[in-house]
Amino acid sequence: MIVGSIKEDLALEKRVSITPETAKNIMSLGLKVCIEKNYATHLGIDDNEYKKNGVEIKASSSEVLNLSNLIIKVNCPSENEISLLKDETILIGMLNPSKNKDKLDKIIKKKIKTFSLELLPRITRAQSMDVLSSQSNLAGYRAVIDCVAEFEKAIPMMMTAAGTVPAAKILVIGAGVAGLQAIATAKRLGAIVSATDVRAASKEQVESLGGKFLTVEQAEDMETAGGYAKETTEDYKKKQAEMMKEALKKNDIVICTALIPGKPAPRILTEDLVKLMKPGSIVYDLAAEQGGNSAYSEAGKTNTIQGIKVIGVKSLMNSLPLTASSLYAKNLFSFIRNLYSREKKDFNINLDDEIITKSLVGKV
Ligand code: NAI
Repeated sequence: MIVGSIKEDLALEKRVSITPETAKNIMSLGLKVCIEKNYATHLGIDDNEYKKNGVEIKASSSEVLNLSNLIIKVNCPSENEISLLKDETILIGMLNPSKNKDKLDKIIKKKIKTFSLELLPRITRAQSMDVLSSQSNLAGYRAVIDCVAEFEKAIPMMMTAAGTVPAAKILVIGAGVAGLQAIATAKRLGAIVSATDVRAASKEQVESLGGKFLTVEQAEDMETAGGYAKETTEDYKKKQAEMMKEALKKNDIVICTALIPGKPAPRILTEDLVKLMKPGSIVYDLAAEQGGNSAYSEAGKTNTIQGIKVIGVKSLMNSLPLTASSLYAKNLFSFIRNLYSREKKDFNINLDDEIITKSLVGKV
């Protein structure tokens, strides 16, 4: 059985799905690995690094697609790649089913068993495969680094002979995976950090990282039984906006990470709220590709309003593709290990396993 991977469209995606290390891990299961020539040279990983670990290098993507029983990718295949996919193969990636419905319909018509790892259940057994967590954690880190680079003042408090520099204040909206890492990173750099979330349970997590939790007073807890956020009510939105007014006047940098699974990003910062910030402040919106938590956010653009920079993030993982690839490839390896049966020497689509059924797109 052969696991194959082809190059992504480099103009859009710099991550890869197999590293030399995970190629070795996949082969330790009894599988073979093949990749397209110059697969990761843009990341400084030469084909020889893969070859040394036993990977077969093929001259073209069509050869890889033709040879492989299982294809692993980062993004959904292009129309051309779909036409080259062999019937009855298995495809795994971050296929973004809500955006790529037409393409996925075509793939499934070819009887290709297709797994999209964003759909994995967030259960303990699937933690090592959880692509959303591995990538969002990096996004939270990178958000702070980008803001610090863009901000025209120093972050930590400095007491010098020339005078004292006050610490910058950073507010994080949404204390999920990305938000918690943003809090931790901002604290390490010496910022005064506060955060808010609709889930009351996140207060303890924010505080354990040294952040101050901003509670929306007299509002109900917006957490579902499954531990996710609910869409906020009009009453909650009003109370949250009141709380934000004071916070926005005080903070230098706001990092937006609020997300409700499967919904457009909640709009939290209206135009009027953004304008309460001081000139020179930054709003960094990680949710820009889902519509944005702030009114001025546009994915891939920085808009300046009254001296306030609103940064709409796009394809952030291309800013740290090596680390992102290394974690994504490990997530994929864990998924493949669960899918492959050494005894049967075949992939086992076990429909009693919720890891399989929840991530499977369409019917088998
Ligand atoms: P998550 O689901 O772990 O966290 C989102 C948090 O927002 C949750 O704690 C939730 O309770 C909170 N929330 C929901 N509605 C809220 C509201 N109205 N007010 C305050 N808090 C609210 O999500 P994760 O994985 O941390 O992702 C955060 C964002 O970063 C997402 O929009 C995600 O798509 C984006 N992202 C973007 C990347 C890029 O390359 N552009 C890469 C990775 C993540």
